[in-house]
Amino acid sequence: MKILVIGDVVGDRGTDMVCDNLEKLKKKYSADFCIVNGENACSANGISRKKAEMILDCGADVVTLGNHSFRQKDAYTILAHNERVIRPINYPPETVGKGFVIVEKNGVKILVANALGRVYLENVDCPFRALKGALENNDADIKIVDFHAEATSEKRALGFFLDGIASVVFGTHTHVQTSDAQVLPRGTGYLTDVGMSGPHHSCLGVEKNIVIDRFVKCSPARFEFADSSARIDGAIFTVDEKTGKCENAEIFSILPGDAI
Ligand SMILES: [Fe+2]
Ligand SMILES: [Fe+2]
Repeated sequence: MKILVIGDVVGDRGTDMVCDNLEKLKKKYSADFCIVNGENACSANGISRKKAEMILDCGADVVTLGNHSFRQKDAYTILAHNERVIRPINYPPETVGKGFVIVEKNGVKILVANALGRVYLENVDCPFRALKGALENNDADIKIVDFHAEATSEKRALGFFLDGIASVVFGTHTHVQTSDAQVLPRGTGYLTDVGMSGPHHSCLGVEKNIVIDRFVKCSPARFEFADSSARIDGAIFTVDEKTGKCENAEIFSILPGDAI
C-alpha cells in the first residue's frame, strides 16, 4: 500500500495548491492513502472548519495538526466532531479531540497518530510513551505517526524508538524537507521532516522581509504569510499491509510551475 504524506499546509496559497493538485499527486504516485498536516492552513496559523473540510474533500484521508492545533476557535468543534482531524496525542487526556484515528481503506486498517515534540515546544506529556502505548494497544494493519517536532535529534530518536512498532514515522513542523527518507533496521519507514506546502519564496511560509527585520532590528513584528506561489513537499511510503513493514521511503517536491 502506498501512503502519500503532505507537509504542513501554509495559508491560502498552500491550501489552494494542495487542493488543486492532490488528486493528480495521488494518481502520479499510485497512492492508496493520504495524510496532510494542516496546522498552518489559516492565515494566523491553526485550522478552521472550512480549511479542514477543503483538505479532506480534495482527497486527504486524515488531517494531522501540531503546536497550532487550537489557534482557530472552530478547531474545538472540528476536533470534537470529525475523527479524521487529529491533534497531538500527548496533550492532557481532558483536551478536546483525539490523538489517533483508525481508518479502514481497501480492507486495510490504518492507524494514524499525531504527537508533539517537547524540545523548544510546549510542555506536554511524553510523546514516546504516549505513542508506544497507542500503537501497541491497537491492532491496525498499518500504523503511521506524524511527529510534529522541532529538534532533529528528538525526531530521529522517536523513529528508532518505534522501529518495528510503527510502519512509518514522519516528521513535520520545521517546514524544510530533510533528505533522510529511509527504512530503519526493523522495518519502519522514516523521514525527519516532510517539509511545507506553502509560499515558495518565504521564510518557512512567512513573508521574508518581516523575518529579516526581526533578526536585523531585534524588534517584534507580526508574521504574515508570503504572497508567493506555493510549493508542495511530500513523501511516499510503500508499506506491506500483511506485515505492516515499510519497503520504501522517498521524498518529492513540486515547485511553482512544475508539471505533475
Ligand atoms: Fe507548521
Ligand atoms: Fe508547527
